[in-house]
Amino acid sequence: MSNAFQKCFNLKYPIIQAPMAGVTTIDMAAKACIAGAMASLPLSHLDFRNFNDIEKFKSMISQFKNLVADENLEHNVNLNFFCHNIVDEPTNLQITNWVKLYRKSMDLPINSNEIDFNNGNVSFKAFERDYALQDFLKYLSNEFRPRIVSFHFGHPSKSTIEYLQKLGILIFVTATSVKEVNLLTSLGIDGIVCQGYEAGGHRGSFLINESKDDENLSTVQLVKRAVSELVAMKDKGIVRNTPFIIAAGGITDSQDISYMLSQQADAVQLGTALLGCNESNASKMFLAPFAPESRTRMVEIVSGKPARTISTPFIEKLLANFHGEELPPYGYIYDAFKQIRRIYPELANFILAGQGFQSVQSGISTDRKIDILGEKLR
Ligand SMILES: Cc1cc2nc3c(=O)[nH]c(=O)nc-3n(C[C@H](O)[C@H](O)[C@H](O)COP(=O)(O)O)c2cc1C
Repeated sequence: MSNAFQKCFNLKYPIIQAPMAGVTTIDMAAKACIAGAMASLPLSHLDFRNFNDIEKFKSMISQFKNLVADENLEHNVNLNFFCHNIVDEPTNLQITNWVKLYRKSMDLPINSNEIDFNNGNVSFKAFERDYALQDFLKYLSNEFRPRIVSFHFGHPSKSTIEYLQKLGILIFVTATSVKEVNLLTSLGIDGIVCQGYEAGGHRGSFLINESKDDENLSTVQLVKRAVSELVAMKDKGIVRNTPFIIAAGGITDSQDISYMLSQQADAVQLGTALLGCNESNASKMFLAPFAPESRTRMVEIVSGKPARTISTPFIEKLLANFHGEELPPYGYIYDAFKQIRRIYPELANFILAGQGFQSVQSGISTDRKIDILGEKLR
């Protein structure tokens, strides 16, 4: 097993605490960093074109640094963005279909006038078209350099990749297929997060447009195929350096981690395993065990992109009432759902979690959990 990943970042464990939008807190990331893992801060909720959001970002970084309180460790953080293609605003038909679906599924008199169809997840690609990118890059250049900047749902432009790499920042991108691994490797990406079908949260696919074209590779199959693809690309002289391979999806204990490392993954990225930790925004959901028959589902119609979530009556009703109608695109539809959830938090349950959700432990701090998982690897 290679320990190149740990050496590169001077980490105690070959573990990345997964960025989990809405769930990861600054405290959680700081605890992961202190434990000796790579911390991640999800930033997909921020619109860098907006002055207030830039200030929020700066404040997140200073809170993170204060909590870590160690200059040698504070750079061990991965800033995570969504990098999906920019979509058009929803049409009236899409909005009408959405309202009908929610009225029927929730049995409530929902009115389209009550909901603002705003884009709640602005893509990094939109910042690249704006001065926002320059401000962000200037901040990284002059104020604070994270070790990693990562992207989900796609990759930024070649010039952004090269600019960040010149600053000494490594670029990681999620892949769910061999085709994506191939493309990212030829772009010179430094780390590929191989996200299997078991994984919680949104699938980071960007070359697969329709679910029917998705091979739904498991984490281990994707890792194995990625490793052999990289060997082949190097042998053929297509690339000189190969990226780190990170296994993500369904990894819940030390044995799972060891197995992924034995399959030549350089590190693992843990999401679901940390959901119940004290610092997680989702910890309350995992205080009581789930019924043994509880299950997860891959659901596209809540956010507009396939995401693994725990099945709830709300999810089942939505799925039963949906018959392929056109709905608003990602970003807009997800924000509309979040508005409904704010009004009816008990009714609109969308709990992102992977297939390993039954083994989530609660009442434990993130640093302790990482230590327990990591110590057994040494
Ligand atoms: C609640 C939740 C939110 C997530 N949000 C993000 C995110 O903001 N950015 C990202 O790159 N990945 C996100 N993911 C995916 C994780 O990075 C990772 O691929 C996944 O959690 C690994 O599978 P596991 O959940 O089985 O450990 C999320 C996962 C979960 C469970």
